[in-house]
Amino acid sequence: MFDLSEIARDLVVPGKGILAADESNHSADEKRLAQYGIATGPEMRRQFRDMLLETPDIEKYLSGVILFSETLDQKDDEDGLFFPESLKARGIIPGIKVDEGLEPFPNSPDESITKGLVGLAERVAEFKSRHHPGFTKWRAAITIDGDRLPTTMALVENAKRLAVYAFEVQKAGMVPIVEPEVLLDGNHSRLRSREIITKMMHALVAALEDQAVDMSSVIIKTSMALTGKDAKNAGGKTDTPEEVAEDTLAALMESVPASIPGIVFLSGGQTPDEAIANLAAITKHAKEVHAPWPLTFSYARAFQEEAIIAWAGKQENVEIAREAFTKRIKQASEAIQ
Ligand code: G3H
Repeated sequence: MFDLSEIARDLVVPGKGILAADESNHSADEKRLAQYGIATGPEMRRQFRDMLLETPDIEKYLSGVILFSETLDQKDDEDGLFFPESLKARGIIPGIKVDEGLEPFPNSPDESITKGLVGLAERVAEFKSRHHPGFTKWRAAITIDGDRLPTTMALVENAKRLAVYAFEVQKAGMVPIVEPEVLLDGNHSRLRSREIITKMMHALVAALEDQAVDMSSVIIKTSMALTGKDAKNAGGKTDTPEEVAEDTLAALMESVPASIPGIVFLSGGQTPDEAIANLAAITKHAKEVHAPWPLTFSYARAFQEEAIIAWAGKQENVEIAREAFTKRIKQASEAIQ
């Protein structure tokens, strides 16, 4: 029998966090490779994942890595192991993204809803039997636009789907990460972001309870409370790490029960320096307010960008790319201690 709460606790073990390397094939090609002038396609995606996942000593800083389905069936250069096996051999828990991306929400087409409930049970069982990942991820994206968006309908429908997903995944013997990402895009204030994170988390927790999800075996992945990107770019005030920490924790303390075994943060388009400084401030403030859950990182962009630029798709650059990657995951690990 699987002890799911143990896997959940292992994911948020002190000093370690999660690498999100679960971009869909389209996102990996367009947003990670082509954007930096690197060739695309399955083999380049494999080399990209090899560059990150086969970096020596990452197990010192990473408890888990979220993968996309294609990567489950790809092998590393060094030992010819499937990536999930290679991670497990180093004590890192492999996870898998199981949602199928976003589509416009029919009731409010400027907002999105996450696809993937159709056939989910079969898909999850298949992943589980082939590569035994310990956990999974489902991401919803929440748009803020003044007082107009998000609508309560979009929050509630995304929360319901996150809860149905979480229930199915626990039934299949894996830990669900539930990720309602409140997007950084927009010209909203940090306080508006805090308000929407709070509202979304209330809706999510209610939906998880309605769906009888075991709260001791679900990890919440959240955005930090931040001023919208457009407001910041238009010369608005930059959030200090202390302000981010105060508003992020206020939102979570108000909405997330202590029974949740851990909360992880996404980087969401912050620079690597911002994502790490904000995480350090959140960690410090969490102690002051006696936050009941372990907190850690689950970053994609903030860890990957500099490494991809250094790598540029060339074998001879793998070592410097891995140095850039290691530098950031080490800093994030230090930030949570
Ligand atoms: O779903 C989003 C990823 O898991 C985290 O990505 O750190 O680039 O926001 P990010």
